[in-house]
This record gives sequence, C-alpha cells and structure tokens, in this order.
Amino acid sequence: MNAVEDKLIRAYKSLREKTDFVPDVAVTLGSGLGAFADERVDIKCVIDYADIEGFPISTVVGHKGRFVFGYVGGVKVVVMQGRVHYYEGYEITDVVMPARLMAMMGAKTLILTNASGGINPEFSAGDFMLIRDHISLFVPNPLVGENIDKLGIRFPDMNNVYDNALSERILEVAEDELGISLKQGVYAQLSGPSFEAPAEIRMLGTLGADAVGMSTVVEAIAARHAGMRVCAISCISNLAAGISKTALTHEEVQATANEVAPKFKALLERCIVESGKC
Ligand code: HPA
Repeated sequence: MNAVEDKLIRAYKSLREKTDFVPDVAVTLGSGLGAFADERVDIKCVIDYADIEGFPISTVVGHKGRFVFGYVGGVKVVVMQGRVHYYEGYEITDVVMPARLMAMMGAKTLILTNASGGINPEFSAGDFMLIRDHISLFVPNPLVGENIDKLGIRFPDMNNVYDNALSERILEVAEDELGISLKQGVYAQLSGPSFEAPAEIRMLGTLGADAVGMSTVVEAIAARHAGMRVCAISCISNLAAGISKTALTHEEVQATANEVAPKFKALLERCIVESGKC
C-alpha cells in the first residue's frame, strides 16, 4: 500500500470511530458560506478536522475546520466547513484528502463552492457562475503518484467533470424558483496565494477561462477519479486583476462573498435537494 493510501485509510478509520453517518451528498463551502452549515443543516454530528488522524488543517482566516453531518431538506449531507488550499503548503494529495474521504464515507455527489475573480467581461462582482469545465495551471495534478486502485482508475476521463444533467437542473431551479440568473463558464485554478498579474489574466482569457481562483479543480479531479458526480458554483467576488481598476485584497473577496451569501445559501440548499433527487 502506498503512503497516500495508507494515510487516507488511517484518516477514514479515525473518522469512523466518531460517526457511522453515511451521507448521500458532500458539500465544500467556499468563502462567505461557512455559516451555511450552522444555519441550514439539521446537524446530527460534528467532527473537527483536528480530531481526524493526519487530516490537513486549514490556516486561512475565516475558514472553520470541521465536517458537519446532518440533513438538508431530508438529504443526508456531509458539509466541509473550511477547506484546505495548495497555497497553504500542503502536498496536493493532502489538499484532496477530504474529497476522497467524503467519497469513502459514501457520498455519491460532491457540490463544490468557491469565490473567484471574474475574467469574462459580461460578469460583475456578486454574480454566480455554474462551473461547466476547468483549466488547471501551475498546480500539480492530484492523481500523480501510484494510483489508488480502490478509488479509481489510472487514467480517468475528464469529459463531463461537472455533471451536465445536474448542472442543467440547477440552472432551471435557479432561474425558475429563485430568480437567480446563473452565469456559466470555465473556471481556472492557479496556485495562489498571490492574486494573478494582469498579463496572466489576459492569458487566461485567451485560453478560454471565465473565472479564476485558487481551489476546486484539484478536488473535482480527485472526486471524479473516485467516482463521484460533481457540480460546482463560484461566487464572482471581484473582477480579476487588470479588469478591476483597483488593487485586489482578500478583504474585498470576503466582503462581496458575505454580501451575496444569503442568495448563495438559498441556491446551495436547492442544489443539495436536487442532487438528492437525481
Ligand atoms: N484570483 C484568484 N482567486 C480569487 C480571486 C481572484 O481574483 N477572487 C477570489 N479568489
């Protein structure tokens, strides 16, 4: 058994000593959404990351670090309140360990959320973008290394990473029931933690990216490898470097994410219910 698999199994056993909850849907909360777990989940159990053997602990201000287990609209969920980013200095295999653990717990769908910088000129700060495809740049592929055959195959397909059928359903529900006009597009993950230079944003625009951030793609790759269905929604918290005329700050990202959080929470809740249905 390789070291990554060994660590994963130890973490899983450690978690299973604390709960036997089997979720159907897994959710990773991005900036501004942390309170979702407290407000919208009928909580059955909470496990701090620090209490799971070998679990990477997030160092980002504003990110709690715990799994919340419970029900949203009757759907059994595990919610990550706080995620781990590559820029914090973890091995990429540690960054995706939580996604893999949630697959091992039994979750069949993973809903990823994040905050990002808007590159598409049609986007405004405060918009939401349904991620339909991705570009990964300057971050390692999380599947590099000996393949973990128990999770998935060596060369997984990356068509339809963000499940088409579920995405179409989310678009409908957002528009018809919540009056939210969701944008759609390609999300690029770069390593951070510095924001991008304006020339990098121009490059990303040329490559076909609509939004840029520092998370999500590696988690989506690991989740698809492990056979989960994935969907992802990004809050455009700011216009990307060079498009925005002002300097970018983490505070600006947080402020916008917090401002639109009530709408985002309503959308996420509906996404969970729809994922539980189909
Ligand atoms: N760039 C990278 N990551 C981000 C941004 C951005 O402009 N906004 C929020 N996360």
